Amino acid sequence: HTSYPVAVIPGDGIGPELVEAALSVLAAVGSRHGFSLSTTTVDGGAAAYLRDGVPMTPEAIEVVRRSAATLKGPVGLPEVRLPDGTEAGLLGGVLRNGLDLWANVRPIKLLPGIESRVRAEPGDIDYVIVRENTEGLYLARGRGVGNERAMTDTLLVTRHGCERIARYAFELAARRSGAPADGGHRVTLVDKANVLRSMFFFREVFLEVAAQYPDIEAECLYVDAAAQALVMRPEHFDVIVTENLFGDILSDLGGGTVGGIAMCPSGNVGGALRGDPARRSSHPADPAYFEPIHGSAPAIAGRGLANPLSQILAAAMMLDHLGERAGGDDIRDATSAALAAGDIQIRRDGSAIGGPDAVSRAVVAHLRGGAPEVERE
Ligand code: IPM
Ligand code: MN
Repeated sequence: HTSYPVAVIPGDGIGPELVEAALSVLAAVGSRHGFSLSTTTVDGGAAAYLRDGVPMTPEAIEVVRRSAATLKGPVGLPEVRLPDGTEAGLLGGVLRNGLDLWANVRPIKLLPGIESRVRAEPGDIDYVIVRENTEGLYLARGRGVGNERAMTDTLLVTRHGCERIARYAFELAARRSGAPADGGHRVTLVDKANVLRSMFFFREVFLEVAAQYPDIEAECLYVDAAAQALVMRPEHFDVIVTENLFGDILSDLGGGTVGGIAMCPSGNVGGALRGDPARRSSHPADPAYFEPIHGSAPAIAGRGLANPLSQILAAAMMLDHLGERAGGDDIRDATSAALAAGDIQIRRDGSAIGGPDAVSRAVVAHLRGGAPEVERE
């Protein structure tokens, strides 16, 4: 029996109810697979900012750094702002940059029982966006310069940053299961190399890395064309790698094709490359946190409407990271089974009938239904 030290950040708005739903699923999976989570709950986000003057205290950040993984709810409240107008309750600066979690891994998958707004069947949409998480245009966060007449935010890409994110994308493509219908495994770089020099540089580095993976197709697509292609031919995509802001935008677009962003989990990871000596940890897993790709939706908090599948699927990604892959698969399988059986129903606006409670109970019921362990293809 293994017990993993896990930090929990409930977050703002619908965050606490989503996290509670995910924790109940995790407890059920743990007892089935013989592990438990020793959780430490820490505050982070907009409410924490109002109380402490910082979105997360150094002590709380330390808990995340020391934990084997962190489950995080969405954070931020629209009215909680810094004097410069940006949101005060966000954790990207302290967690993504602070812990150097440079890869934001965002699977976009159409699950059974979900009616896509694009013409697609489950199986047609199944790709992963690997979003560079520590530089790009976001590196300017809070550092824009100018005056009331003009402002400049700086986009920075480094060779080191491009290399590691490109390599992550190829390694991920190499170990993914199903390949797209129109070929083998493929990594698509989404950029704007026709206009921005920084993006041309990103492309050069990407193609250098690609040469080390001859078995995986490498292609480059401009971001505008990519936005169209993700709607018109989503079945083409396998792994997409892209700059931070592009990845932010395109992952919500992808979410819009699979029933909404409330279906979409993500992992903030880094340093997990084989042979990368840069990161040391007292746990077998490097620090990482797992969260929905969406925000805290304060308008629907506490109303029994929120869809917790993003959070529950983020919990499954967290189990993969901890080395409990069978547990992660179990959550994904139970979710798909509950959706296919109509035991979870997602409305066209993305909300869930019965809210987080009903959804987590349905997932747990399908876990306990004890579907025999089947080989995943
Ligand atoms: C995301 C979110 C964040 C981002 C917000 C909350 C700052 O939209 O994780 O995609 O822009 O990165
Ligand atoms: Mn986003």
